[in-house]
Amino acid sequence: MGLVILSDTDQEFLERVEEVLQGVEDMEIVRLTNPSAAAAAALERDAHVVVYGPTSGREAAFAAAQKVAGAAGLRTANLLIANTVDAELLRAAMRSGFRDVVAVEGATYGDIAAAVQESVEAAVAARGGDEAADEAGTTSKVVTIFSTKGGVGKSVIASNLAAYIAAKLDKRVVLLDLDLEFGDDAVMLGLEPTRTIYDAVQAYDRLDAQLLEGFMHVHESGAKVLLAPTQPEQAEVITNARVSGIIDLSRELADVVIIDTPGRLDETVLTAIDRSDEVLAVATMDLPSIKNTKVSLQKLRQLGYRNDLVKLVLNRADSKVFLEPADVERAVGSSVLMRVPSDRLVPRSVNRGVPVALDQPKSPVAKSLAELAQHVVAE
Ligand SMILES: Nc1ncnc2c1ncn2[C@@H]1O[C@H](COP(=O)(O)OP(=O)(O)OP(=O)(O)O)[C@@H](O)[C@H]1O
Ligand SMILES: [Mg+2]
Repeated sequence: MGLVILSDTDQEFLERVEEVLQGVEDMEIVRLTNPSAAAAAALERDAHVVVYGPTSGREAAFAAAQKVAGAAGLRTANLLIANTVDAELLRAAMRSGFRDVVAVEGATYGDIAAAVQESVEAAVAARGGDEAADEAGTTSKVVTIFSTKGGVGKSVIASNLAAYIAAKLDKRVVLLDLDLEFGDDAVMLGLEPTRTIYDAVQAYDRLDAQLLEGFMHVHESGAKVLLAPTQPEQAEVITNARVSGIIDLSRELADVVIIDTPGRLDETVLTAIDRSDEVLAVATMDLPSIKNTKVSLQKLRQLGYRNDLVKLVLNRADSKVFLEPADVERAVGSSVLMRVPSDRLVPRSVNRGVPVALDQPKSPVAKSLAELAQHVVAE
């Protein structure tokens, strides 16, 4: 059951949208002519979606969306229908808390209805997550390891954090390898991928936390690991809604959920970031990596993520380069949470499938990873 508030001054538009939506099962629709009344009604009735039509007036619609996003978060999705959409409008809309923008130009009422339906599903998924967390009574923490560049050390950091926190900090840990095409966590942890996220998705219709746990491998540290598919093409069936559901179920199984990601900002990664309490952005000390980090963090801010959601981790921070960590902070506009030194022990331990943080605990690289792990469980 979804509650949708439609707001526009054009009665004919409202009627047409309502008509196509009524073909969809179980949707209650309320029509209003003004965005601020729509926002008030949405908050009062805990609506799933507010749709602002093309005659809403940009300023009023943006103010209303901001109000809804501020008060309801992801529980209620704001959807803007505009006559035309350009990059500037899209950016501004994302910043004001819209989930999606649809251009009337070239769209049918069916397209608009599909966007509304998608937004309802997103709101329902967001609520499921809230409720699952409430039910389990847990304060589990989800941490996504992120970088839009490959080879910077995301998987090294993710696998070491998971193993160290499970083995040394007495927490229940789940590691999700969401690098769906080329996930490396199996190799990094010396695990044979006999079961993967692909199998969990095949059983999605009846998946609960217990069944999901059965698809995970238990690393000798105690960390439970949901591995990436063994065939890149299997990634196709792993939709964002399913990823979102798997993250929520993982919360029930763990105190800390660590998510490893591919080196790009795609829908899967955004889904993970959406569900995260903290994002560790990994950068190395070279200009392309720093430029990349700067651009991707800007993008996250434009998408409306809180500034303090993301913390910067510098990997291979002592490489013989001309840059200083302070230069990086200035360039990226974020402070550095941790510096992980470069060490030959890392590739050696990767090749042996043993996390360096547990294998060589006295080394400086292991100590910095341990310190990062302490930070993750603190709070
Ligand atoms: N601190 C370090 N010191 C030395 N080598 C490192 C360090 N961190 C990572 N490496 C090496 O860099 C390689 C790439 O690391 P990793 O696979 O973790 O990167 P990634 O960001 O996950 O890449 P991808 O996006 O391709 O998955 C690893 O094989 C590892 O040996
Ligand atoms: Mg990786």
